[in-house]
Amino acid sequence: MTTILFLFTLTTTLCLGAPAPAQYPLLQVTVPQSHFEVLRMRQSIPLEPRAVTDTECIDRNAHIVFHDQNAAELSICGGIAGSVKRCQGSPSLTQGRVGSALFTLKAMSKESTINVSKKRWEQCVRAARAVCPTGSLSATCLGGASRGDLQFTLLSM
Ligand SMILES: *[C@@H]1O[C@H](CO)[C@@H](O)[C@H](O)[C@H]1NC(C)=O
Repeated sequence: MTTILFLFTLTTTLCLGAPAPAQYPLLQVTVPQSHFEVLRMRQSIPLEPRAVTDTECIDRNAHIVFHDQNAAELSICGGIAGSVKRCQGSPSLTQGRVGSALFTLKAMSKESTINVSKKRWEQCVRAARAVCPTGSLSATCLGGASRGDLQFTLLSM
């Protein structure tokens, strides 16, 4: 009995003594802060399925890393992470790419420009992901341009 207890204690101690080496530094280096910003938005902004129409799942097996997608979501319009509240610079076309994820956004009406707020953009991405949980997709984000809607794709790179 004493031996078993001793072995148990030893095993526990050894396990505790070796806490997942190298994994934490690696995570800190490779996962951008914007990933966590998107996770926080996802908790505070309700799912709005009607934010999008015409969602199409292009390839459900396309491999898109979740934190790449989130970081790419905030790298549109030259970057909307942190204190930036909406797309800057009124582009008619913009892309956001991080690692395996590429977003491409286009204003659909002629001579209109992309003017989507970060909150609306998150609603559109989330609503499209609710339809296509994995892989590549395309959808129309209602509003989000100076006039009319914006069309977007999420493709794997
Ligand atoms: C973008 O949207 C904001 C908020 O609705 C508005 O104040 C601004 O005038 C718009 N800019 C353009 C270029 O449409």
